[in-house]
Amino acid sequence: MESIKSQAISKVILSGEHSVVYGYPAIALPIYDCCSFSEIKDNQESKSLIINAPQISEKYFIENNKTNCNPLELTVLNFLKKYNLEIPNIAINIFSNIPIASGMGSGASISTSIIKSLIEYYKIKVSLDEIYDLVFEIEKIYHGNPSGIDPRVIVYESPFYFIKNFKMDKININAKFSIVIINSGIKSSTKEVVEWVAQQKNLYPIKYNNIFKEISEISNNLRTALEVNDIDLISKLVNENHKLLIEMGVSTNYLNSLVDICLNSGALGAKLSGAGKGGIIIAIINTENFENFITNIKTKGINEYIISSYV
Ligand code: PMV
Repeated sequence: MESIKSQAISKVILSGEHSVVYGYPAIALPIYDCCSFSEIKDNQESKSLIINAPQISEKYFIENNKTNCNPLELTVLNFLKKYNLEIPNIAINIFSNIPIASGMGSGASISTSIIKSLIEYYKIKVSLDEIYDLVFEIEKIYHGNPSGIDPRVIVYESPFYFIKNFKMDKININAKFSIVIINSGIKSSTKEVVEWVAQQKNLYPIKYNNIFKEISEISNNLRTALEVNDIDLISKLVNENHKLLIEMGVSTNYLNSLVDICLNSGALGAKLSGAGKGGIIIAIINTENFENFITNIKTKGINEYIISSYV
């Protein structure tokens, strides 16, 4: 068999993380430059299906009646079950250059790339909605109470204005800007942070509901700003969202210092992105000022970053 290769993108949240879990709008953007990959090959090693994840030095063997499955195994088993397929004798090799547990949807991306490679292997017709449903099931393991925004952007490869269980509008971005993503290097469990926010919301409902309402307005205005190419407004709203995430308690001194470095290096806006308490921050850069910005952050010790341009 010739090997079959598939890939899936990653994402960042431009506004509305956490509040999106409670039914308020959020905006997330696809990141095409940071992906996960899945490759199906003949299995020379065993008589069952094997998933190889060399980057984490793991191998998982899938057999009938296996219990206690991890999310990767479940991605495969749920797919086979849904389409009434026997466990095939194949090897699925997975790779990713998306930082894990950092707010870029690494889990949703890996599940998506595995499912895409299985679709290709079986040569069956599966709609994006069906892929989304399969990935969303796995997200529940990673996130506990996911809004679904990660799989939505990653499966459909489009920017979305998203309200949980209600609205999933693709956005036409007419604004020209670049996003620079900086990883704090601190891993953060989305599930734990989402649970922590839920506890805080129970303790301080007025405070949290007010924050969520303000973020909701930001997401609504941001959608328009993206559509009409108002880069100043986009940046202002991104900065406001970060301040509200600080009030929410999900930022850290280190994330704030990365945001400040970006703003002092010529970024128009910057915020943490994803669940927070670690993970990534994103900076909005005027594409013309890009080289300058990179030179400036390098002088401040930031040498690793991911770039995504919306032009
Ligand atoms: O996967 P993360 O870290 O980008 O978190 C997703 C955003 C949250 O709002 C915190 C959770 C969710 O499911 O929407």
